[in-house]
Amino acid sequence: MVVAAGSGTRLGAAQPKAFVSLAGRPLLQHAVRRVLDSGVVGCVVAVVPTDLVQPADELLGPDVIVVPGGADRSASVRCGLAALPAAVDTVLVHDAARCLAPPDLVRRIVDALDQHPAVVPGLPLADTVKQVDDGGAVVRTPDRARLRLVQTPQGFARDLLERAHRSAAGSDDAAAASLATDDAGLVELLGERVQVVPGDPRALKVTTPDDLAHAGWLLGLGA
Ligand code: CTP
Ligand code: MG
Repeated sequence: MVVAAGSGTRLGAAQPKAFVSLAGRPLLQHAVRRVLDSGVVGCVVAVVPTDLVQPADELLGPDVIVVPGGADRSASVRCGLAALPAAVDTVLVHDAARCLAPPDLVRRIVDALDQHPAVVPGLPLADTVKQVDDGGAVVRTPDRARLRLVQTPQGFARDLLERAHRSAAGSDDAAAASLATDDAGLVELLGERVQVVPGDPRALKVTTPDDLAHAGWLLGLGA
């Protein structure tokens, strides 16, 4: 599932972020192409803004199921889950904004799903991280060696992901709300183990205009 129903406020383009062009193709098309190129995905569902279902359908062709998304990312993931064919028992959730995530990374997640019901790609951090209080005072400096920057695609046993989203949607838990951008976090709230495998710098998330320039540079290098 490729979630692409956000508006892209921070990018500030005239159209929703997934439809912004990078070297002549919308980010969504870059993302879907790389997922299909992995050769290990049986079916792709693209979740897009309601008014862009038809153009996305034309853009992505008959092999991709296109459905309208929801008000936040979690709601969009639930729209995608509802559109999955019955036979699907393993799901990857991927951000269209991570448009250059390579086929290799998709295969790495799928391979790890043989051993684990929930798998996320993660990168080590270059910077030190501080936890601060409301006043900006440092509370704690976590051991950087134990921290990872988490990306997508994230892979799950379908029933586990559905259970995590049902449970989050049914609670007005602040913890669940703050995890609206991370499916694995919802699985963690169920007390289930999430395995981290090596991520990939090319899976950067395009959030700001600088990120779009960075993605263009990576594309020029062959990403
Ligand atoms: N997303 C979605 N449905 C939403 C919100 C986000 O499908 N209601 C998707 C976005 O399209 C994106 C991914 O979730 O591929 C990650 O979200 P983010 O980078 O925050 O994208 P936007 O919400 O579009 O950007 P912004 O927060 O700057 O508005
Ligand atoms: Mg957003």
